[in-house]
Amino acid sequence: MTRLQSTLLATTLLVLSANASAASELNLYSSRHYDTDERLYSDFEAATGITINRIEGDADELIARMQAEGANSPADILLTVDTSRLERAKQAGVLQAVDSATLEERVPANLRDADNQWFGFSQRARIIFFDKVELPNPPQTYADLAKPEYKGKICTRSSTSTYNQTLLASIVTHAGEAAAKEWAAGIVANMARDPQGGDTDQLRAVVSGECDIAVSNTYYFARAIRTDVKGLSAGREMIGWIFPDQEGNGAHVNLSGGGVAANAPNRDNAVKFLEYLTSDQAQQYFSAGNDEYPTVKGVALSPAIESLGSFKADEVSLSEVAANLPVAQRIFNEVGWK
Ligand code: FE2
Repeated sequence: MTRLQSTLLATTLLVLSANASAASELNLYSSRHYDTDERLYSDFEAATGITINRIEGDADELIARMQAEGANSPADILLTVDTSRLERAKQAGVLQAVDSATLEERVPANLRDADNQWFGFSQRARIIFFDKVELPNPPQTYADLAKPEYKGKICTRSSTSTYNQTLLASIVTHAGEAAAKEWAAGIVANMARDPQGGDTDQLRAVVSGECDIAVSNTYYFARAIRTDVKGLSAGREMIGWIFPDQEGNGAHVNLSGGGVAANAPNRDNAVKFLEYLTSDQAQQYFSAGNDEYPTVKGVALSPAIESLGSFKADEVSLSEVAANLPVAQRIFNEVGWK
């Protein structure tokens, strides 16, 4: 073999192995970690022959890592929760637009980015939970929560919560900044205590009697139905819930979702994976893993989430809502929502 021939051979082998790896791998950056996800990944691997390499971490860390890795990032997919984080990833430039008829057909338009950089794969509603004994007339709408009659009764987490940020951004989208600010000030005036803890802690505070009303995502309560959550499951019979705004815009929903990384080395596999996530079976695994609602219509609900009953969801575009996140942040600061 001449030197030229051996160089050619080596080059060919290099190209072949690069192609082979491109055809068979998918690098998933994920802030999800649920047991049912294992099934989600193994089914995809079995069906496609594509090996999934997972890098798990906090969403903000993963986004920062993708930014730092830049053009050399091995990330193909970013999976995370909350519209505000998906939007943050988009604004950070770590996602790219995906043109997929399957994704556009399966994921409702209001549950994906207007530029198709992120897509929702499951949803959670942010609703009102209340003490059925202490509060015979619970608030029926988000606006009701700000009424003086509920002074000293509401427990909710802080304004650093992405869930609260997206909820307030949705109110800005519907009612405008001035009305949203008035609402937020009303909530602050009605708080039973300074914001603290996560959503489960607000529900626990209803059980312990510290507050009569808690604002929480649906899956925290569904989890307490499905499994024993300390300080909550044993007392959950005293808690009622209201899907707000059923006569109006509907209950605010938020997303778990993801998108294709800006510099994805295995772009085709990445698109294939997102499309797979919209299949009926994957939708069931993905939503049941965290007691959420599927985003694809007609997919069966897990028993715990089904027991909460059906409701009308707000169908405002979450991409539009995301555009109001900076306004929401300003309002939180102005009204002193800690
Ligand atoms: Fe959560």
